[in-house]
Amino acid sequence: MPQQNPLPPSSVAALSLAEKTSLTSGSGDFVTQGCAAASAPAVVLSDGPHGLRLPKESGDGGQLDLHSAAPATCFPPAVALASSWNPELAEQVAGAIAAEATAHGVGLVLGPGINIKRSPLCGRNFEYFSEDPLVSSELGGAMVRGLQNAGVGAALKHYAANNQETDRMRVSADVDERPLREIYLRAFERVVRRDRPWSVMASYNGVNGVPVSENARLLTDILRGEWGFDGIVMSDWGAVRDRVAALRAGLDLQMPGTGGRTDLEVAAAVESGALDEAVLDLAVDRIVRFAQRTTDPVRSPGDIDVDGHHRLAGTVADQCVVLLKNDAALLPLDPAGGSVAVIGELARTPRFQGAGSSQVTPTRLDVPLDSLRALATGADVRFAAGYALAGTMPEAVGSEARLSEEAVRLASGSETVVMFLGLPPQDESEGFDRDHLDLPAAQTELLERVLAVNPRVVVVLSNGGVVRTAPWQERVPALVEGWLLGQAGGGALARVLFGAVNPSGKLAETVPLRLEDSPSHPSFPGEEGRSRYGEGIFVGYRGYDARRSEVAFPFGHGLSYTAFAYGGLRVEEDGEVLRVGLSVTNTGSRAGREIVQIYAGGPAGSRVLRPVRELRGFVTLFLDPGESRDVVVELTRHDLAYFSEREGGWKVEGGRYRIEAGASSRDIRGCVEVDVEGDPSTIRLTGRNTLAEWLGHPVGGPLLREWFARARADASQEGQGALADPVMRRFLADVPLDVICEFPQSPVPPASLGELVDAVEARTAEGRERRGA
Ligand code: BGC
Repeated sequence: MPQQNPLPPSSVAALSLAEKTSLTSGSGDFVTQGCAAASAPAVVLSDGPHGLRLPKESGDGGQLDLHSAAPATCFPPAVALASSWNPELAEQVAGAIAAEATAHGVGLVLGPGINIKRSPLCGRNFEYFSEDPLVSSELGGAMVRGLQNAGVGAALKHYAANNQETDRMRVSADVDERPLREIYLRAFERVVRRDRPWSVMASYNGVNGVPVSENARLLTDILRGEWGFDGIVMSDWGAVRDRVAALRAGLDLQMPGTGGRTDLEVAAAVESGALDEAVLDLAVDRIVRFAQRTTDPVRSPGDIDVDGHHRLAGTVADQCVVLLKNDAALLPLDPAGGSVAVIGELARTPRFQGAGSSQVTPTRLDVPLDSLRALATGADVRFAAGYALAGTMPEAVGSEARLSEEAVRLASGSETVVMFLGLPPQDESEGFDRDHLDLPAAQTELLERVLAVNPRVVVVLSNGGVVRTAPWQERVPALVEGWLLGQAGGGALARVLFGAVNPSGKLAETVPLRLEDSPSHPSFPGEEGRSRYGEGIFVGYRGYDARRSEVAFPFGHGLSYTAFAYGGLRVEEDGEVLRVGLSVTNTGSRAGREIVQIYAGGPAGSRVLRPVRELRGFVTLFLDPGESRDVVVELTRHDLAYFSEREGGWKVEGGRYRIEAGASSRDIRGCVEVDVEGDPSTIRLTGRNTLAEWLGHPVGGPLLREWFARARADASQEGQGALADPVMRRFLADVPLDVICEFPQSPVPPASLGELVDAVEARTAEGRERRGA
């Protein structure tokens, strides 16, 4: 990755200590400090991520008032966008957000958020993409590109392992190295390396006991050293406890500003010699360069195309809706005739985004009920609220019962019922986690009553985090997951229900049967300041698959009004690349979009635990009825690697891997096995390595066997025969060689161990020389 040249030394060196310290903290809540002497403009920041949360008067730094934002387009939040599995759309959305940002003088958008959904309970899951790092990085990376190609910076957040809201400002995510690398850092790594965000936001929490804002390993060694990050690290709002320690660890910008208080602390530390001024200079250098990036001429403020952006929000929402179930093709409904009872306050008062710092004041709002009525050419669409939402609470005592009565009456006199159910706004938000997955009892009771009078029920869900569908899904013939779809989502739902749009979204997270099945349960959200990630790499579908648990709807699942057949799966190896090809055919009678998922699993007999399958690629394609097309998805060797803590890096084990093509993680349509050569071992064998490790080592193995063979040839040594006995062999497998050496008649006597170790080193060096390494 190309590194930036440092700024001319004079630019930073010419600044006073006060100027330098002030550059490294905000000048207000949402503005950085400008510095004319360094040609660094002040940069206005705005949440983020699915639309702007504009301070009422942009440029003034705004206040931390989550409800006073000026209008901006509210695009589908990440939970919905992820269900489109469509990076191109995500890039377009980000481009539109960038245009609005530019028009308002905003230089950096605080997003995307690409944290992994470790638990379905996380209150902020609506703002995150997936339980899978590939989906998160493909969608999140596309947003970074969309913003930055239009000259607006992205702040990739919340780095790292910020997977819960409970105690989020203090909790330590205690996570082993392998899950940290394979699951929690993986999306960040991909986006940083490929899409080069201008900034990364350091999260509130700690990782393994060290606050992220003071975590040199995360902020410097891994982020910059390993991944080549060349932007600024800014703190989440209020995440810095010790400014000097944070600077030293690699945190460049403290947000929001502290009115100069912590700048003085930094200055004092420099003056006393407690902080090397070069550390401050480095942060200043990065911040100046960052600020200068925002003056890129590609930014051309123009009028905001409010209508165009609303239309885009709708087109995107069309692809985010997930059809979970559609027995006997109950959907789509006929817009031209019949009677439809629309039941549920959420049809009239939609939830279209989550709460907290990402809350956008929309430019307009499509209401599902209105959109359904607008699309019905002859169908008779009637409405009953059925239940109340907070804020729309009926005043008279007993009105809950009245609402329910009215709804049941309407349902019994209608041909079809469309029930809008979902989480009330107070159930999920930034700042706290949910404590259960259930819909409100008033809604599920109403559903049962409606089903009793009319079984032709379509349930449409509105929720930011998954809800439990198991208690009732068997009795409901059609189920639509509408997530939180942004300001134009009402239209998208109507289009899907009436068939103007063929649904094509798929789940980017598993819907479990019960909370208790979820892999992070019961260690979520931890206790007494520590959240132990006991499930390791087995997060989301990786965990459900490992335990072969039934789920309500699996990761990757989503139906269409048409059907797709997969065929001809093949894998070609081409150096570092595995080219996976297959053909997909639309076998139904409607045009539709299919999301083809490529999983890898294995190898058989792996030395470490491997998930049954892991998503390693996906592709989306539109097909007309009867149309067939070949698709190719490229995997790399790295996609087969695991992170070896012992060897301190990614490792491809040799062996036979499974490459699968699936319509979901539990609807695998084809599987091909490929033999892959492993990476050479970097382990330096010693007497502390076990017999199995010695025998599995490419150099040590053959050498040890030679010693054993020599011992066997020597009639006086009888203990060597132990290896021929399968039970003994297993018994000895985990015994370190230096212990075996002590056994009487060991083929390797203790005195010879050093000789053997040296011989391995020598042969390894010879091999390296031969390969010219
Ligand atoms: C949130 C960030 C957000 C910031 C600024 C914090 O509380 O965690 O996601 O960007 O506030 O509003």
